[in-house]
Amino acid sequence: MAGRIPQSFINDLLARVDIVDVIDSRLTLKKAGKNYQALCPFHDEKTASFSVSPDKQFYHCFGCGVSGTALTFLMEHDRLEFVEAVENMAALVGLEVPREKGAARARDNSNIYELLSRAAKHFRRSLKTSPEAVGYLKNRGLTGEVARDFGIGYAPESWDGIVRAMPDASEKDLLEAGLLTSNDKGRIYDRFRNRIIFPIRDTRGRVIGFGGRIFTGDSGPKYLNSPETPVFHKGRELYGLFEARKALRHIDRLVLVEGYMDVAALAQAGVANAVATLGTASTEAHFHKLFRYTQEVICCFDGDSAGRKAAWRALENALSTLTEGRQLKFVFLPDGEDPDTLVRARGRQGFVDLLDAALPAIEYLFEQLADGLTMQNLDDQARLASLTMPYIDRVPRGILKDLMLNRLHSMTGFIPEQDPRGSSQAKHTHTAAPAKLSPLSKRLLTYLLKKPELYQTLPVEKRRELTLLDKGDLFLDVVKYIDKNPEADSALLLGRWSGDAVHEELVVLFERRLDLAEGAMQAEFVDGVGRYVTHINSAERRRLLEEMKEAPSTDKLKRFWTLKKADD
Ligand code: GTP
Ligand code: MN
Repeated sequence: MAGRIPQSFINDLLARVDIVDVIDSRLTLKKAGKNYQALCPFHDEKTASFSVSPDKQFYHCFGCGVSGTALTFLMEHDRLEFVEAVENMAALVGLEVPREKGAARARDNSNIYELLSRAAKHFRRSLKTSPEAVGYLKNRGLTGEVARDFGIGYAPESWDGIVRAMPDASEKDLLEAGLLTSNDKGRIYDRFRNRIIFPIRDTRGRVIGFGGRIFTGDSGPKYLNSPETPVFHKGRELYGLFEARKALRHIDRLVLVEGYMDVAALAQAGVANAVATLGTASTEAHFHKLFRYTQEVICCFDGDSAGRKAAWRALENALSTLTEGRQLKFVFLPDGEDPDTLVRARGRQGFVDLLDAALPAIEYLFEQLADGLTMQNLDDQARLASLTMPYIDRVPRGILKDLMLNRLHSMTGFIPEQDPRGSSQAKHTHTAAPAKLSPLSKRLLTYLLKKPELYQTLPVEKRRELTLLDKGDLFLDVVKYIDKNPEADSALLLGRWSGDAVHEELVVLFERRLDLAEGAMQAEFVDGVGRYVTHINSAERRRLLEEMKEAPSTDKLKRFWTLKKADD
């Protein structure tokens, strides 16, 4: 592939351009110690959480979690594609962008765009010459109006239709544009033959590729798409986005469906906000793009196993893009239906009703991960926590993340309300009940009060990890006491806290009945301590991050990395 920008050039560029200059010309930066601060441009906020480090040439928002270099900042803030951002930065320092494979000049794709646009026109015109193709579209319920809005066309049954339509264009350029293809004998001919053509446009309305559907006979796959070309990247583009933006002044929500026909049929029914991936799974780049244009994305996939898989993939890829205010939801269609058949059967309102009842991402996440778990025992609780945390970790800080942590807490006893940067609601419960113990801590305390010697059965490194924790709860206090007083028995422990506000709670926990065999209690204790340490660690890590925002210090940073290492 010609025209890649060498990585060495990008490194060079990042070394020459000062991130502070790049950001300062776009935000109001205030000096704060060695760093600079600003209101974060990527989420709504009233106090500055966005920090720029000239030393590291890096930005980070302690509010929504975004971070990156000058280059990523330009891409996200100015909504530039990668190459555009590089060119923009290169211009700042007066450098020309080199290309690999000898292509020294910046690539100019205008020729490809022009060929694609001319081809689209050729396909549109050809549609009028094929009563079969027109009949097929009519049969599928599309009017001429929608066919025109989407520029739907027809590629005639021919091997050289493109060359004849564009005799002035070189074969090489037509191949590069993906309009021609070649076989292993070196023969070159039309890629799209006897197919309904869906032109795929970028958000500026330029044709960047085509999808072609077979409609008579059965030669070849149902859909044939343009190959990857310098202007066509399947993992980034969305069918129908340009058309949706054109039809709607304000896009409340976008519906992500699987097929071109679904998008067209929905538009036909008056649902103009549907878009589709190009026959590939959805990617993080897709969600970045979708959320540039709307705050709510509803994934609408088939209810079959392939659709469910696609939905889960979508969730995984979207989590990191769910910054404050953004919503992701899911609709699963009845088996055997797709949006096209459904909207035709139930009409616009029927489809909109489904959208209105869409399942929020958080519900979907917990529903899937808690599937088969009863939550009646430590094992299930541990399992749910370990399954969900990696996903919750990907969600940028904000209400959604807090909701997820709270949900996990209510299901397992993990203690997100200890999170000092939680939502106001979480903070409220925190100050209202400072001594509130999580179910996990309570259970561990019960074990330990009944059998303090359990502590000695922990592996040495676990004991060390525990005693090194500095912010914990009553369980940790008891642990530390036992660590210093290995001879302590139940009576001594209860006596140690007598007259203390927590004494009554300790007695209640000590007296709790346990239906556990001796061996099971030890196993659960060891297991529970593991989860406890992990949880306190991550809570402390979050707290350290928050503190470093106010007053950065090497000690805090060191501590942070120690915890992170222990966690990894
Ligand atoms: P209709 O069958 O015309 O209703 O189209 P559809 O969009 O409902 O098709 P389907 O649900 O089977 O597939 C969804 C999307 O997957 C299509 O729009 C294509 O992008 C892609 N796709 C389907 N079949 C093929 C295929 O044979 N090859 C390729 N490359 N992509 C396909
Ligand atoms: Mn279909």
